[in-house]
Amino acid sequence: MTVSSAPGKVYLFGEHAVVYGEPAVPCAIERRATVSVEARDDDHVRVEASDLSLDGFTVEYAGATDGRPDVDVPASLVEAAMGYVDAAVEQAREAVDRPDAGFDISVESSIPLGAGLGSSAAVTVAGIDAATRELGHELPVRELANRAYRAEAAVQDGQASRADTFCSALGGAVRVEGDDCRAIEAPNLPLVVGFDGGAGDTGELVAGVRALKAEYDFAADTVSTIGNLVRTGEQILDPENEAEGSLAELGRLMNFNHGLLASLGVSSRSLDSMVWAAREAGAHGAKLTGAGGGGCIVALDPTPETLTALQFTPGCEEAFRAELATDGVRREA
Ligand code: MEV
Repeated sequence: MTVSSAPGKVYLFGEHAVVYGEPAVPCAIERRATVSVEARDDDHVRVEASDLSLDGFTVEYAGATDGRPDVDVPASLVEAAMGYVDAAVEQAREAVDRPDAGFDISVESSIPLGAGLGSSAAVTVAGIDAATRELGHELPVRELANRAYRAEAAVQDGQASRADTFCSALGGAVRVEGDDCRAIEAPNLPLVVGFDGGAGDTGELVAGVRALKAEYDFAADTVSTIGNLVRTGEQILDPENEAEGSLAELGRLMNFNHGLLASLGVSSRSLDSMVWAAREAGAHGAKLTGAGGGGCIVALDPTPETLTALQFTPGCEEAFRAELATDGVRREA
């Protein structure tokens, strides 16, 4: 049995705009998906998933995954999880040139699905890594990130950037602009996450922004403004420029970024109310993270105030401090 894990992430800046070639800065956090893989003698794939924030499920299939067996969890959850596992299996088979390889796969994740914390990227990265190693082939991390990106893009109808998968494979803070992906140095920021218990449909949300951008020049300008904001934010993050008050300035830019995302229609009442609860508690700044529509916000606050405020905010199901994950993919066994 081969086991790999990979971290989730929050976006300090730049989600959505990154899909159109603007830069983004996601940052890996210590919430991981762990995937265990055992090769089979046939070409079947059996997937067992637990802790995917709802009940676990087990499915077994051969070949295409349509017409899947009945399982006792919402179809959307199975679809979401299975789509990424399927795409990861395809990438692993292709990487080792074993199109008929079968696997028993077990996924355990402490990253809520579809909530903006990069659960799909983490499962995809860890899945490809464990499946290829199980077949005796260790992929260099950049190739792993590239294959995970292709898997995500396939599931999201080609509408994905490299940001989530690159960040999960490498760990730490990264900067992604088109195909240019690099690790950056960033201070260990006092990140607080609020989760509304919900999820957004990334494909739909990305398509919504694309449609607005095509219809209105000012929506296209909003996307480029997010890119400019990211360029300013990365200057402040650069440890060489660290100055008194830089946390406050980063927070101000996060607030700005949230407003721009909201104007593109990807926020929600519960995300806005968690953002406002964090700001009123004295956070330097707060924004939604990931595709939006529901899920998580991220705030900057070195004091306990934001965490406490979020815990008492109606609509917030869970709040926690997020530590920067310096490790990306981890080869556990
Ligand atoms: C989703 O986590 C982030 C988006 O920018 C989509 C992507 O980058 O693929 C909305």
